[in-house]
Amino acid sequence: MTFDIEKVRADFPILSRQVNDKPLVYLDSGASAQKPRQVIDAITRAYEGEYANVHRGLHYLSNLATDNYERVRATIARFLNVPHEDELIFTSGSTEGINLVSYGWAAPRLQAGDEIVLSVLEHHANIVPWHFLRERQGVVLKWVEPEPDGSLPPEKVLAAVGPKTKLIAVTHMSNVTGTIVDVGAIARGTDVPVLVDGSQAAVHMPVDLKSLGVDFYCITGHKLYGPSGSGAIWISRDRQAEMRPFMGGGDMIKTVSRDAVVYADPPLKFEAGTPGIVNQIGLGAALEYLMDLGMDNVAAYERGLRDYARDRLRSLNWLQVQGDAPDKGAIFSMTMEGAHAHDISTILDKRGIAVRAGSHCAMPLMDFYGITASARASFAMYNTPAEVDALVEGLIFCRELFG
Ligand SMILES: Cc1ncc(COP(=O)(O)O)c(C=O)c1O
Repeated sequence: MTFDIEKVRADFPILSRQVNDKPLVYLDSGASAQKPRQVIDAITRAYEGEYANVHRGLHYLSNLATDNYERVRATIARFLNVPHEDELIFTSGSTEGINLVSYGWAAPRLQAGDEIVLSVLEHHANIVPWHFLRERQGVVLKWVEPEPDGSLPPEKVLAAVGPKTKLIAVTHMSNVTGTIVDVGAIARGTDVPVLVDGSQAAVHMPVDLKSLGVDFYCITGHKLYGPSGSGAIWISRDRQAEMRPFMGGGDMIKTVSRDAVVYADPPLKFEAGTPGIVNQIGLGAALEYLMDLGMDNVAAYERGLRDYARDRLRSLNWLQVQGDAPDKGAIFSMTMEGAHAHDISTILDKRGIAVRAGSHCAMPLMDFYGITASARASFAMYNTPAEVDALVEGLIFCRELFG
């Protein structure tokens, strides 16, 4: 099956709108992706005719909503090739997933002086929960720097592992440089548990958790063309058995008395309170949509886009692109002498081009590159080479203004 870009674009209603009287060129999918009609329809259908709270009711609508909601676990399991559905815990996104591991798995197990190895490529969501353990329990954070081109050789991560290392926390794809990290090689090289932040990678390439061999893998729905407030973390049964619940409340218990509480079996044990019912149903629709397209097809199309964008941006010898690893997604962080990232973003916006400016929740990586901010163009499967051209023309216009 080939990838029909025009058909894909037609599925995303927002892509046909104008911004500042120009056709929208949306290059901010790394922050949050647009939604296809299939997701919007699934959300509408759920609220219009199939909504009730899940798990607790015995009435028709509650059972229907529960079925629709729980079916998403099977959809995510297919999407990530997860061995057992009950290893998938619904979350509101990667931030919650990583905090669940920090509070539920790491906090009760790690002692002062124990180490967590993490990379300088990480998003704050995969940094701050570990700082909590540093502040509160004296856990030591051991940082691994990428190469200047943004790549992160697995050997470098493994070299940082010592007898006190209790966890490796690493991204599968940087949201700043697009670097793809060989997390499977990291997991194969050590017995230390590996947590992988799949927030960006799962959007752009097939992920097979049966073969990766990692211990924790989180995704966030809003980057996967689904609703914000949806997501999941895969935690192997063995690691789940080592965890205590993070949040307490309804739905995560079997019984509660004045003196005792008996928890529900996983995954419900880790899902307290009324969940994001329709958000997860929307995520299910998004993943079905991606699987219909085929993640191999998506990845192949985006590789072409990446190569074209990389060549065109390289030809601008006054533009600095942070990170140029051979294996990377179509994410380009850029700086230009004389123009602040916010200037670049504002000028591009006037031309209908949406890019993000700032530190991208990756301040240690900004420090590594000696900058405080960059303008980031992050491409998705609905972008086109013509949009790469529009970006390049916009950047040339910025250069003429500020250069
Ligand atoms: C690499 C990476 N990790 C984690 C996150 C956090 O995701 P969320 O805010 O959806 O929980 C993001 C979002 O920007 C990200 O790009």
